[in-house]
Amino acid sequence: VPNRLAISLLAVLFLCRYVTAQDADRGKLDFFESKVRPLLFSKCTECHSAEKQEGNLRLDSREAILKGGDYGPALKAGAPDESWIVKATRYDHDDLKMPPTGKLAQGEIDTIAKWVADGAAWPASSAPTVDPTGKPTSPVVDANFWAFQPVKPQAAPEVADAAWPKSAIDRFILARLEQAKLRPTSDASRATLVRRLTFDLTGLPPAPADVEAFVNDVDSRAIEELVDRLLASPAFGERFGRHWLDVTYFADTTGIGRRTPLNDAWRYRDYVIAAFNGDMPYDQFTREQIAGDQLPAADDATKERQLTATGFVVLGPWHHFDMDREKLTMDVVDLQIDALGRTFMGLTLGCARCHDHKFDPITAKDYYALAGIFKSTKTINGSSVNLTDLPQSTEEVQAHAAAKQAWENHEKGLTTEKDEAAKKIGELGKQIASLNEPPQPVSTTPGPTDGPDEKSIAEEKRELEKEIKKLRGRIGQIDGDLSFWRQVTPTAKRAFSAADREAPADVKINLRGNVHVLGEVSPRGFPEVIRWEGAPSPNLAKSGRLELANWLADPRHPLAARVYVNRLWKHLFGAGLVPTADNFGSRGDRPSHPELLDYLAGRLVELDWSTKALVREMILTRTYQLDSRVVPECAAVDPDNKLLWRMSPRRLEAEAIRDSVLAVSGQLDLTRGGPTLPITRANLHINTPSFLEDDAKIEPHVKNRRSVYQPIMRGSLFRDLDVLTLFDFADPDQIVAVRAATTVPTQSLFLLNSDFIKEAAQAIAKGTLSAPDRDDSARVRDIYLKLFGRAPSEAETGVAAEYLNSLGMADAAQRENAWTEYCRALLISAEFLYRR
Ligand code: HEC
Ligand code: HEC
Repeated sequence: VPNRLAISLLAVLFLCRYVTAQDADRGKLDFFESKVRPLLFSKCTECHSAEKQEGNLRLDSREAILKGGDYGPALKAGAPDESWIVKATRYDHDDLKMPPTGKLAQGEIDTIAKWVADGAAWPASSAPTVDPTGKPTSPVVDANFWAFQPVKPQAAPEVADAAWPKSAIDRFILARLEQAKLRPTSDASRATLVRRLTFDLTGLPPAPADVEAFVNDVDSRAIEELVDRLLASPAFGERFGRHWLDVTYFADTTGIGRRTPLNDAWRYRDYVIAAFNGDMPYDQFTREQIAGDQLPAADDATKERQLTATGFVVLGPWHHFDMDREKLTMDVVDLQIDALGRTFMGLTLGCARCHDHKFDPITAKDYYALAGIFKSTKTINGSSVNLTDLPQSTEEVQAHAAAKQAWENHEKGLTTEKDEAAKKIGELGKQIASLNEPPQPVSTTPGPTDGPDEKSIAEEKRELEKEIKKLRGRIGQIDGDLSFWRQVTPTAKRAFSAADREAPADVKINLRGNVHVLGEVSPRGFPEVIRWEGAPSPNLAKSGRLELANWLADPRHPLAARVYVNRLWKHLFGAGLVPTADNFGSRGDRPSHPELLDYLAGRLVELDWSTKALVREMILTRTYQLDSRVVPECAAVDPDNKLLWRMSPRRLEAEAIRDSVLAVSGQLDLTRGGPTLPITRANLHINTPSFLEDDAKIEPHVKNRRSVYQPIMRGSLFRDLDVLTLFDFADPDQIVAVRAATTVPTQSLFLLNSDFIKEAAQAIAKGTLSAPDRDDSARVRDIYLKLFGRAPSEAETGVAAEYLNSLGMADAAQRENAWTEYCRALLISAEFLYRR
């Protein structure tokens, strides 16, 4: 039952919104361009455009669709069920079935319906016509666009208030503020800082003792020590590793619509976490993920790490079954190119699959030059993903052999039992048959002629049949056991990883993206617009992935470092200097501080591509340590805080919310790494045990671990992880550079009603009630420190007392209930869910 305190606290949630309308529109237009327009073009416009208007309908502009044809308007934005353009394609109307030549694939129908439901976005202006034959059409933006220029060395600018900046970064920020005649707000309190820092670097709230220590430490180096301690904690890799996984397709299953478990996918996740914890230089991190399998390795550990790293390339939302093998292959390649572009370069390369990129200087030829590299790479393998054996130590070889032996023994036990049961059934059947035979006179000599009487024969038969039934039941059970058992065959140590195909080859341009309508060969290579003296080119005897990796990890690459430092900036400041973190092209945002972006990109290289060192520099700025208080004069000029006159407060990410709730209630299990996918008999599909059930459950020993270690299922996450889904956790089928941060009523309802929150509240209540030497106001103080990283004000202590008493504190049960309700209200308060 919702309570009043909770509701008044929740109200605060709705005051903050982060997804701007602009972001949402951009997403919708991208969806239109990549999915809807190609579909209308290939399936409808031959009969519904300038040349031909069947039913008096054109489908080549939004206006025309709105106007409609003989049936009236073909589109009602937001209402797919009332739009002819959707109804016709569903094929359930008596007369109108479109296209008349055959029903669209379900996914295509869903695409149109989703587009209509989302408001039927269609860009206002039209770009030049398409020439998808490989000849470059002139893109709207030419090669002089800022993002393709080399990173320029930048000196920090002069500022009027020379006393304010603590670092070079601060000077870039202050100079822009001064230009706009604004002043940064005041510095954050130490209590705010310790909570902010701990969340940003570890994704967890600070422990009360750490808060008190930091708040009371007047040493000026205290903050540096805190930052260093947090950067060194394994929670840092878990935090930043999860950020990175957002821009990969990592999940523990493969396949669309079927959840085929990938038992070894976790190795890639652990690789990423270890890379951040070990502060692997970003250029190396790039190289290993793209082409680790092609890199030389001095020892087994390196080999293992490098092979595992290529999980980036091979794990993805692949279709594994399509009659059209070529299309299937090229669809996988397409997703790989898109990930490569968005993740490492901030480019939407996928837009050049069917025509030259309409907005950026990327041609279809460039696209197919990359396609040749990925097509020459082994990715999928039947219904699974390419696997490679990892080097094994002698102990591992022995352990594997022992596991295999045990597995075989168990299997043999089961099959033997099954065979024996079958044999027994045969024997029992014979016995029944013999009972059925008319009693044969044993001899002609007279003697006792009466055989067993009728009644006992019937009884004996019943007994035998009962036994047969029991045996049949047992055989059924054994079959189930066996088919499960065969899903859990012990395997040698192995990883999903990329490998070059035996016969690497260039591919021909697929005209308009059609894999069967081919243009000229596009020799393997890298987008032409990104070039520098001595840039590598692909080794055509192999796939070319190694050179691609080296090309991406080169300090002269204009986008690699810029895109990465922008991500780091975003993790700390809430938004990137280029807010569209995966689109540095002309349709993305321009950098708010172009010089600072280049300065940071340069710093990254100077710091030997060290993530930790650069993060440290960003944090030890006055800018990062600003308060989040609103200054009305600044807000009037720069409401979105693009110029960074304050620290933008933000809602915690899904995993930080979940992990924090577990942490403050003492339930968090800090076990790290290893397999977590729940391959249990109950979780595997009953008829097709190579798939997970839709409602598979996470195993108890995994359930309270940090979110980054929870198994990730494609399609929809495990039910146990509803809290993640609700708070905009990244969809593993997408490259998610900027997560949505929605605030919708379902979230509050979830929080109010969820067992997850209730149990946590109860655990906190029990904990505080059993703590010795505590009166109620000390308890309130403990809880505030734990949840909010600060002591309560007198007024807050007063409110707490009033609230607790209003619920009744007469006996132990009432007290526990009152404290539980109180803790629940605090757990779902904005203060707990936000980092300021
Ligand atoms: C091969 C030609 C052809 C193709 C391809 C085709 N249509 Fe049609 N469409 C027709 C004809 C013919 C009619 C008129 C049918 C009628 O009036 O019963 C029509 C009528 C319609 C109408 C009703 C228009 C009106 O108000 O009278 C809609 C809506 C429609 N089509 C949608 C689509 C969509 C969406 C596609 C692509 C997915 C499509 N059509 C593809 C031939 C085609
Ligand atoms: C699967 C193929 C395909 C993909 C992928 C694709 N498009 Fe297109 N696009 C088309 C087709 C087909 C047309 C219509 C061509 C025509 O009218 O001649 C088109 C037209 C366009 C137009 C209008 C051109 C004009 O002359 O008016 C724009 C703009 C556009 N696409 C942008 C994009 C963007 C941006 C992306 C990536 C987000 C993208 N496209 C991805 C197939 C595709």
